[in-house]
Amino acid sequence: MADTESNAAGGSLEIKDSRTGTSYTVPIMPPATEGDTAIRAMDLRPIKANKEEFGLMTYDPAFMNTASCKSAITFIDGDKGILRYRGYPIEQLAEKASFLEVAWLLRNGELPTQPQYNDWTHQITYHTYVHENIKTFLQGFRYDAHPMSMLCSTVAAMSSFYPNAKNIQDPAERDISIVRLLAKLPTLAAFCFRHVKGLPFIYPDNDLGYVENFLSMVARMTEPKYEGNPIFVKALEVLFILHADHEQNCSTNAVRAVGSSHVDPFSAVAAGIAALYGPLHGGANEQVLHMIKEIGDIKNVPAFIEGVKGGKGNKLMGFGHRVYKSYDPRARIVKKLADEVFKVVGVDKDLEIALELERIALSDDYFVSRKLYPNVDFYTGLIYRSMAFPTDFFTVLFAVARTAGWLSQWEEMLNDKEQKIARPRQIYTGYGERAYAGSLSYDMTKSSKKDAVRK
Ligand code: SDX
Repeated sequence: MADTESNAAGGSLEIKDSRTGTSYTVPIMPPATEGDTAIRAMDLRPIKANKEEFGLMTYDPAFMNTASCKSAITFIDGDKGILRYRGYPIEQLAEKASFLEVAWLLRNGELPTQPQYNDWTHQITYHTYVHENIKTFLQGFRYDAHPMSMLCSTVAAMSSFYPNAKNIQDPAERDISIVRLLAKLPTLAAFCFRHVKGLPFIYPDNDLGYVENFLSMVARMTEPKYEGNPIFVKALEVLFILHADHEQNCSTNAVRAVGSSHVDPFSAVAAGIAALYGPLHGGANEQVLHMIKEIGDIKNVPAFIEGVKGGKGNKLMGFGHRVYKSYDPRARIVKKLADEVFKVVGVDKDLEIALELERIALSDDYFVSRKLYPNVDFYTGLIYRSMAFPTDFFTVLFAVARTAGWLSQWEEMLNDKEQKIARPRQIYTGYGERAYAGSLSYDMTKSSKKDAVRK
């Protein structure tokens, strides 16, 4: 059971199996950079009640206490409300860096030099176009298709346009796939927006920066050149940085698991988009606005809160987090950003409802005892709405930003010698062996199928 690392600093567990009286010494892995430590689940396998047994597994639905990987990309301390990308505090990156600089940092582990940054932004800028057939593909969607469904399908379809992306062990192929995905996600997202609006697609404008170009593809009408509102451009740049990565969240776990089959990165990112679509994950920012609309007026907030506490399964969307058991550091930054944006667009009753929800949630014991603080999604939706994005487009904005994190985590997984295809075990609770009786008649003339068609 020797661990690959020297265990001197890690110590060990002495496990005595009361079923057999046998004792086992299970090494504890040496504490990592910030003190994370674990035992290797495979070191439990030799623990058996009898030699026919498979051996002891760990049972951990939803991975509440399971480390699926080692990662050097993002560090979160849920109790202290700390979030760092490659060691840099999110507050400093949000204030001073650009999204593409952060995307480089997440993947490469260090901030880019000026020549690296210039080349990186050039690469991204000159890969923003998508194949014209994608437009035809998008025309196949109904006018009211949800943009996340469109984005997920379109990114998966991009895999068919770049068959060489399958060569994932070739660093050059990984490089160009990462550039293509980061460059084209804004274009695809904007095309989805324009399709739903019934507006002509706007092509990328290479004179504009990453965020302003995205806004141009979303919002440009008859003007020859789009000029973004600098407050909105800055707000979106910060929001993209805040949403870029978040260690092993649901969608990143999906990208790693799907990527572990060695499928191409377009397909793996499409899996991440599908996971992010869920209302408990990235879809929460959209649900926050639906919740505020349902409340309708600040005077209805107390009744709504009682409904949430009443255990009827209603959730206070935008609150709570699997890791943060204190204020999500991103929410603090977003709230400050919201104040700046609302100075431009004005405070309205939705924001008043949001502020009242937060005030109550931060004082009411039901939420305090469950450590339910506002998460990144709570104020983000209000900012997107103030920028006139439709509610069902909010999660698309999350996906554009999180693509940087997904790709960094995907490549880290591929380069991790300990990783292989993700294939968890199970605890089987079904029938024991039983004989097949086989009593059905397969004579189609007697089947009720015809009746069903006649009816
Ligand atoms: C994101 O993982 C990430 O890092 C995600 C993310 C990222 O950047 O990738 O940070 C982005 O997804 C943020 C989370 C957005 N989701 C929401 O805002 C949806 C509302 N929040 C919840 O659904 C919930 O808080 C989760 C899903 C976020 C976390 O769920 P957990 O940790 O599994 O918590 P839980 O469901 O076990 O809840 C613990 C208790 C339960 O009550 P009891 O059964 O103990 O009585 O708290 C309650 C829950 O019912 N609870 C809530 C609640 N969240 C949890 N009650 C009311 N409102 C809520 N929002």
